[in-house]
Amino acid sequence: MILTRLKGKSDGKLTKQICKVVLDHFDKQYSKELGDAWNTVRDVLTSPSWWQYAVLFNRFNYPFKLEKDLHLKGYHTLFPGSIPYYPKSMKCYLSRTPDRLPSERHQIGNLKTYYLLNAASLLPVLALELRDGEKVLDLCAAPGGKSIALLQCACPGYLHCNEYDSLRLRWLRQTLESFIPQPLINAIKVSELDGREMGDVQPETFDKVLVDAPCSNDRSWLFSSDSQKAACRISQRRNLPVLQVELLRSAIKALRPGGLLVYSTCTLSKAENQDVISEILNSHNNIMPVDIKGIARTWSQDFTFAPIAQECGLLVIPDKGKAWGPMYVAKLKKS
Ligand SMILES: C[S@@+](CC[C@H](N)C(=O)[O-])C[C@H]1O[C@@H](n2cnc3c(N)ncnc32)[C@H](O)[C@@H]1O
Repeated sequence: MILTRLKGKSDGKLTKQICKVVLDHFDKQYSKELGDAWNTVRDVLTSPSWWQYAVLFNRFNYPFKLEKDLHLKGYHTLFPGSIPYYPKSMKCYLSRTPDRLPSERHQIGNLKTYYLLNAASLLPVLALELRDGEKVLDLCAAPGGKSIALLQCACPGYLHCNEYDSLRLRWLRQTLESFIPQPLINAIKVSELDGREMGDVQPETFDKVLVDAPCSNDRSWLFSSDSQKAACRISQRRNLPVLQVELLRSAIKALRPGGLLVYSTCTLSKAENQDVISEILNSHNNIMPVDIKGIARTWSQDFTFAPIAQECGLLVIPDKGKAWGPMYVAKLKKS
C-alpha cells in the first residue's frame, strides 16, 4: 500500500494517512505552478493538526451564548474591517489557532445554530454581493455550505439550488432543512439537473449565479485511502477543465444581461482555475472580468493569497495560522 503516515500528534483518533501517489503528483505540478510557496502549502495540507475550522452562525437560530464563549476563547469575526460589500447579518468566527467545535446534531424541529467550514469558502459567496430580492442560482450546490452562507447574507427573491448527484442532492436537502426555517425553504427550488443543461432550461433568468465547480479538491484528495483509485483520478484530472468550461457556458446562458457570475474551486490547479476563466473570456465577447483584487487587499489579514500573478481572480493558499483554502475565486459580468 502506498500510504505515508501523517506527522502530527496522536490523540487516540484514527490518524489520517496521505496518499503518496497524489502527493508526488502535487509536488511535481504545484512546485512548478506556485514556486517556493508550495513548500508552506504542502506543510499545511499534509498536517491536519494545523487545520482550522471557521464557525458560521445561523441567523435563523442565533447562538448568543456561543458567541460569548468564542470571544472568551479568542475567536474573532471574519471581515471586521470595511469592505465594499459586507452583510451585517452574516457572522463568521475564527481562531488563529487550530480549534474545532463539535459538529451539531440535527434534531427535528430545531434548527442548527452554526456550520463549520473552511473560511475561504465565504469568499465566493461574498464576491457575489447578493442583495434582498435578487434571483440567484447555485449551480453545483451540494452539500449546501454556500447556499446556507448565501442565505445568511440576504433574502433572495428566488434561490435555485441545483445538484447533479442524487446522493449528494439528499445531503443538500438535509443541510437546507437543518439550517433554514420551513417558510423560507418553500421559496427555494431544488433541482437535480446536469448543470450543463441549466442555461437551456432557464435562459437569461438569474441576477447572480454561483458556479462552485466540481474540481480536484486537493485537500481531501491527499487523503484518498485507495491509491489505485487515486491514480485513476489523476489520469482523469485533465477532463475536469472541459466540464468546468461547459458548466460556465451554461451558467452564462442562465444569467440575465448585466448579471454577475462567480466561479470557484477548491484546487490550486492552474488548469482548473485561471485557464478555465481565460477560455471563457476568449470565447465570449459579452463576458467581462470583474476586478476583485481590492477585496484581497482588505482580506489579507485573515487569508494568504498566491503570490503569482493571476490574470483575473484570486487564489487563497493554506498558510500556517491561516490554514484556509485552497480556494480560487473569479468574478465575471455579462454585458
Ligand atoms: C465543490 S462541490 C460543491 C460544494 C457546494 N457548493 C458547497 O459549498 O457545499 C461540486 C458539486 O458539483 C456537483 N456536480 C458534478 N458534476 C455536476 C454537473 N454536471 N452539474 C451539476 N453539479 C455537478 C458534484 O456532485 C458536487 O456536489
